[in-house]
Amino acid sequence: MVKKATALANANIALVKYWGKRNEELILPYNSSISMTCDGLFTTTTVEFSEKYKEDIIIINDEELKKDEKNILSHLEKIRKMAGIKERVKVVSESNFPVAAGLASSASGLAALTLAATKAAGLDLNQRELSILARQGSGSACRSIYGGFVEWLKGEKEDGSNSYANQIVDKNYWPEFRIIVTILTEAKKKISSRAGMVQTVKTCPFYQGWLKTVEEDLKIVKEAILQKDFPKLGAQAEYNCLKMHALMMTTKPSIIYWRPATMEVIQNVLAWREEGLQCYFTIDAGPNIKVLCLKKDKKEINKRLLRLEGVIKTIIAKPGDDAKIIDKYLF
Ligand code: DP6
Repeated sequence: MVKKATALANANIALVKYWGKRNEELILPYNSSISMTCDGLFTTTTVEFSEKYKEDIIIINDEELKKDEKNILSHLEKIRKMAGIKERVKVVSESNFPVAAGLASSASGLAALTLAATKAAGLDLNQRELSILARQGSGSACRSIYGGFVEWLKGEKEDGSNSYANQIVDKNYWPEFRIIVTILTEAKKKISSRAGMVQTVKTCPFYQGWLKTVEEDLKIVKEAILQKDFPKLGAQAEYNCLKMHALMMTTKPSIIYWRPATMEVIQNVLAWREEGLQCYFTIDAGPNIKVLCLKKDKKEINKRLLRLEGVIKTIIAKPGDDAKIIDKYLF
């Protein structure tokens, strides 16, 4: 039997951020988070377990992985153990957007890897099981198993069995929602989210304040999604993002992901809003910025963004689909 499968998973962008782990080994967060799965920003991954491979080969965006970056090898080892198989593995993975620039590439990457590898290994996991497993590769990956708007429940259990994502609504619920991913640099960020979170939990004096207020953010953003109330969602997502960056900036040593172009976009989004154009921003662990808007305004906002100093390109995403197995091999 051929132990080979390909999966496609979309990236997701958090509207209420995940920041800080209560368990680094199992990747268990201190707080729940909410995201939108993005159509058009995806990773495709083919996995094959076979005796013909003498060692594990992992190729990501044409580059061979030399060490256990992002714990990909340990993740595959975990799946091998679950399936009770011993064969070495070949993985080829491609994302259609710049990796490591705060665009949640690890989310789509680890979600696609988890789905393709479990399928290739002969395991038939349901979405919740996939979400729990993907989470152990990269936290935000648990959300990319589902399409539409998604909530990752932090869970309380020590073993992580109730820390997984759930779909709030599918991609057809609010099809007018758009996120304009605005790329300012394609350079790799200096501090990974993983390291940044550890530093925050350890040294930021405001982390307890984050935990005290994030429940309110979650409640409001979830309500806004269900009510399709764009200003309510945008305002709370923007506020939550700024709170996360305030944490990052006040760790020791400080973590400042913003570039001058990031501030340029922030100031303009605020000014356009004053003018009556409905738009809000969110930023992850990198300089790139994402502008939230509705379909009716996307052309105008996109045109204005592309005119700004420092903007290289934009990608417009609408709510996307669940991660899925596809009928095509990358090798
Ligand atoms: C700022 O999921 O990449 O994008 O669990 O350590 O792999 P690890 O971190 P990762 O962190 C994402 C952080 C964020 C916010 C978010 O997506 O919720």
